[in-house]
Amino acid sequence: MASTAPKINRQFEQLPWEANTAPHRWDVTPPDIYVEDCWHKVFAEMRTKAPINKIEGSDFGSYWNVTTHRAIQHVEALPDIFSSSYEYGGVSLAPLGDQDPNDPDRIVMPMFIAMDRPKHTEERRVIAPAFTPTEMERMSSEVRQRTGEVLDSLPVGESFDWVDKVSIELTTGMLAILFDFPWKDRRKLTEWSDYAGNIELFRTPETRHKRLEKIYEMGAYFRRLWDERASKGEAPDLISRMIHSPMKDMDEMEYLGNLILLIVGGNDTTRNSMSGYAYGLDQFPAEREKLEASTELIPNAVSEIIRWQTPLAHMRRTAIQDYDLFGAPIKTGDRIALWYISANRDESVFDRADDIIVDRENARRHLSFGYGIHRCVGARLAELQLRILLEEMAARRLRPNVTGEIERVPACFVHGYRKFGVELSKY
Ligand code: HEM
Repeated sequence: MASTAPKINRQFEQLPWEANTAPHRWDVTPPDIYVEDCWHKVFAEMRTKAPINKIEGSDFGSYWNVTTHRAIQHVEALPDIFSSSYEYGGVSLAPLGDQDPNDPDRIVMPMFIAMDRPKHTEERRVIAPAFTPTEMERMSSEVRQRTGEVLDSLPVGESFDWVDKVSIELTTGMLAILFDFPWKDRRKLTEWSDYAGNIELFRTPETRHKRLEKIYEMGAYFRRLWDERASKGEAPDLISRMIHSPMKDMDEMEYLGNLILLIVGGNDTTRNSMSGYAYGLDQFPAEREKLEASTELIPNAVSEIIRWQTPLAHMRRTAIQDYDLFGAPIKTGDRIALWYISANRDESVFDRADDIIVDRENARRHLSFGYGIHRCVGARLAELQLRILLEEMAARRLRPNVTGEIERVPACFVHGYRKFGVELSKY
């Protein structure tokens, strides 16, 4: 007879943890494992053997790996203990706040993703109304029209770079609408975002310097837009929203920081979910056929693709008090890497987690957008953009078939593709 006793989640009775010194195979910061797409096994091993473990002395310093779905949710639900603040180094493992204070390139750009309460709440409140269901409704016809135009410009039966022609083009257009950014210059958003979001550039003073140059160029451009709009009335674009809010008194660095947040936050991520759609469904042709036969599965498939791709591999927190994390002795000042890429492959939550299953029942439980007070404020817009892309592909009965070499982003933060060839066919 089946037992009626409540099911105990053994994973959380006691989590084994381990301390290791880099180089160690559980140091998952080196970019090669993402370029070569061989991260699955190492995270699976951690989840089984020591879901929370500490790496000492990696290139990005010492940090705790947190690799399971529930442990990550647990940490994110305690923002007063596990801080996001830039004052402690912010939300990625890149040693941004931990640089030598004498380094002339050590500058701090506060952005609200890297703030704690109450300031985080105050600034998020200004931005969040740009992403309400009503705003999504307002933007959707423009997004749909532009998506259709891009798809209609693509060659059929001829190979092209999907990342450049579709993912980048559509995401950049979406950001341009959000900022009401001059259309002809929209590719600048892509360039700035690529520099600002590339944490590999922190490795040498030269590359740090180059990155800063690009950020200042972006700052000067956006300063002009700010000045032009300051004299005008309220408008729904993100710059006007900041101008007509308590954020109007931000200093230059905080303006820059928040721009980077909104541009990088919206750019690399959405772009890589669109690339994940073309690449991922090509890996699972039976699922692609299922989706082609039943377009009502598109909204769920959108969540599943975002889960499977996990466009941001991790977010970081810093402990501001000692804490016993399921047996792991976290100390004040410790850096914690929340590996969403691993949580989304956690077999205790997702069956056959490495597979795309377009009608997966719990696809929406993915952690690609994070969890808790910092959960992605742009999630609805990202889902809207991807849903419209899938719907417009279906309306044209177009299927992307991967043809060319895949080049992946060499980083443990943005998880995605630099380019790959695709040939469209009709079904
Ligand atoms: C598939 C696409 C996207 C993914 C995977 C993604 C992922 C994330 C993640 C992981 C976080 C941090 C969550 C946490 O710390 O718990 C975040 C926060 C954020 N995202 Fe996104 N994002 C996406 C699209 C967008 C878009 C389109 C925008 C806006 C243009 C955006 C703007 C932001 C902002 C402003 C935050 C900070 C929220 C806060 O701290 O309260 N994101 N996103």
